[in-house]
Amino acid sequence: MSTKNIAILASGSGSNAQAIMDACKQNEIAGVVRIIISDNPKAYVLQRAEENNIKTVVERDFEKIKNLLEQEKIDLIVLAGYLKILPKSFIKQFENKIINIHPSLIPSFCGEGFYGEHVHRAAIERGVKVSGCTTHFVNEIADGGPIIFQKVVEVKQDDDYKTLAKRILEQEHPLLVKSCKYFCEDRLEVKGHMVYIKEKKCEH
Ligand code: GRF
Repeated sequence: MSTKNIAILASGSGSNAQAIMDACKQNEIAGVVRIIISDNPKAYVLQRAEENNIKTVVERDFEKIKNLLEQEKIDLIVLAGYLKILPKSFIKQFENKIINIHPSLIPSFCGEGFYGEHVHRAAIERGVKVSGCTTHFVNEIADGGPIIFQKVVEVKQDDDYKTLAKRILEQEHPLLVKSCKYFCEDRLEVKGHMVYIKEKKCEH
């Protein structure tokens, strides 16, 4: 098992990106974050990357993003709060190599239009008793790719979309770290719409 090269694509605050950077540093993930790419020059994630001495690029052109990923020999692309839609050709080129985190239990409150606070507002309005977060491989259907891991979070009676978002975000970080960890250990096997989790191999 060789150390994997990771790229993170993010548009905002980057608390999920931070969790990945920290886990790589602590060798919890057998990977190195080589580059953080944002479509938003004001995204706080860029500052976080710089503080961690990680290369940053602001780029919206997917041809150029593709070239950057090839240059850096990227094995895993993580969408950590990335708001741009990926072109089909890009998804195809990196099939089963792009992981996204979504702040609900897919297939609830996901797909087109379900991003940011919209997800949590919809959950509260529907009156669900549990929500949560999901990591999945990205395919051509919005939030429709093979599910890797999910974590359930209780919705409390007095929750508003902000308190719910906060409680779910806390669970997103370990879930995304775990997903990257398993990927980097070659323990995620995709067969059709299913992701099979493989036991860790003993290394002698
Ligand atoms: C998270 O809730 C993530 O699930 C969603 O966007 C948010 C990003 O938060 N896709 P952060 O930028 O990682 O703090």
